Amino acid sequence: MCGIVGYVGKRNASEILVDGLRRMEYRGYDSAGVACLYNGHIGVVKNAGKIKALREKVDASQLVEIHQATMGIGHTRWATHGAPNEVNAHPHLDASGHFAMVHNGIIENYKEIKAGLSRHGIECVSETDSEALIQLIAYCYTDNLERAVSEALKKVKGTYGIVVMTDREPGKLVTARCGSPIVIGLGADETVIASDAAAIIPHTRDAMYLEDYDMAVVTGDGVQMFDLQHSPVNREITEMDWDAGSAEKGTHAHFMLKEMFEQPDAIRNAIRGRLDFDMGTSILSGLDLSPRDVAQIGRVLVVGCGTSMNAGMVGEYAIEEMAGIPAEVEQAAEFRYRNPIVTPHDLVVAISQSGETADTLAAVREAKHKGAVVAGLCNVVGSTIARETGRGVYLHAGPEIGVASTKAFTCQVAVMLMMALKLARGRRMPRHQGEELCQWIARLPELVEKVLLQNDAIKGISKKYADKENAFFIGRGYLYPVALEGALKLKEISYIHAEGYHAAELKHGPIALLQENTPIIALLNNIPGKEKTLGNAEECKARKAPVIAVVSEGDEATAEGFDDMIVVPDCPPCIAPIPTVVALQLLAYHIAAARGCEIDQPRNLAKSVTVE
Ligand code: AGP
Repeated sequence: MCGIVGYVGKRNASEILVDGLRRMEYRGYDSAGVACLYNGHIGVVKNAGKIKALREKVDASQLVEIHQATMGIGHTRWATHGAPNEVNAHPHLDASGHFAMVHNGIIENYKEIKAGLSRHGIECVSETDSEALIQLIAYCYTDNLERAVSEALKKVKGTYGIVVMTDREPGKLVTARCGSPIVIGLGADETVIASDAAAIIPHTRDAMYLEDYDMAVVTGDGVQMFDLQHSPVNREITEMDWDAGSAEKGTHAHFMLKEMFEQPDAIRNAIRGRLDFDMGTSILSGLDLSPRDVAQIGRVLVVGCGTSMNAGMVGEYAIEEMAGIPAEVEQAAEFRYRNPIVTPHDLVVAISQSGETADTLAAVREAKHKGAVVAGLCNVVGSTIARETGRGVYLHAGPEIGVASTKAFTCQVAVMLMMALKLARGRRMPRHQGEELCQWIARLPELVEKVLLQNDAIKGISKKYADKENAFFIGRGYLYPVALEGALKLKEISYIHAEGYHAAELKHGPIALLQENTPIIALLNNIPGKEKTLGNAEECKARKAPVIAVVSEGDEATAEGFDDMIVVPDCPPCIAPIPTVVALQLLAYHIAAARGCEIDQPRNLAKSVTVE
């Protein structure tokens, strides 16, 4: 999704803006630009393409505003309306050139707004919905920017995170949000606005988060916050727990590789202080559920998208198996639109790494509206879903920059296991069984480290499959969600058409697609159902499809007769998803690297999907 940055202070604005956009590159984009205000004039530099090209264009610019300004706005655009080109890139100016704005979100009634402006002789030059808004703000302006912005926003249907400035009121930025995140970093004599903490942490850790329908006037001296009726609003200042270095690639070729290798430490952070070995349970105080509350939970509904949904499926299996509570996972968009049956005895768990996914946020609101107890499982502290659920569990995995989620997934699964343990020990699970599970959860970092040691071996295997255009991942039980996740990893970074299937499903249709160049990644870990999955893998082999067998340590014989083998630690079924998925992450990474793909920012993808 689009990246937004604004700066007002005493330092060179364009440098801070371009660096901020660079730190948000991982969100995915196709054009970028900055606008700076100096000496009563606004100068704009923007282009289709990457930040590197923008930086070169800024450096070469003859505009004094670009080089002298101490305030400005910047944007990376992920195209929704209009092609990714320079005209459609942000920042957008109004017709007079006295107003500039950057926008994240969708103005649903932009055509109606454009038509109204046209009747007053105001014509837009781009195909975007965003330009309609800045033209409307300029049209509404008399002598106060924030009033013009609130008047315009009252006419808007849709979502927005915006930063606006005008050369008529230098030193002032106005920002507002509805549905698209905005965070304000409070520095010494300077203020930074952004859609993502990554752009703020190099300057300050003190941050304020806008809620929907909040507005703020931002200067170098600080922030005034109010609603669209200009009534004051009080938002607390929180300390962001990221450091700038953790949002850098370091010596790794890609953020994704760095984050895969961070998984042992990330999981340590996710479980730290949350296992009670004496009572054989977990301590998830953020859930704010008393033992009585836990005992009254009748069902658990997990909502999420993509990788988060896959992690939720592991959680579904664990909750039902351990706690004996009905559980189900659902695609968040489906949940929010199908008028789901939800009761006050339901615990709805919204899983979202970014905490900003529009469909998951909408599912949270739907569940709250229907009276459920709603908890968030997020990685980004202070994110919208974390704040709107008001209870939940942070992953503490550190910033995940690579669009393909890795450490977030393994930490989500670790937290879901701890949640299942908590619910189970609030019911029939005996203490000793709980303690045994605590021991296994505590071993997860070690199990992941063992798989990471196979990086070179998996890289070697990957070379044989880098030229394939299709692939199937198959698994059963706890490994069925892992098959889905492994396929998602491969498809999103290598562009190979990969699908995850329940192993039993192949013969109900998909096996018709098998050919000699359709590799099967069979999850043959030593868990219940292995023999059945082995039979499915042999059916594939009999049809000349190459099979990569993922097997448990000590059970290597299972891989006999297949084309390649990846060995993962032997462990209980509920623990197997985490070490196994790490092997599949590595496989996907090396195949994508061998194909020369853009791994951290795959085409068409965004790190946080803040639009429907
Ligand atoms: C995972 O590799 C993808 N990047 C994507 O499926 C992601 O998991 C999904 O968009 C949900 O994001 P969230 O966890 O931030 O809500």
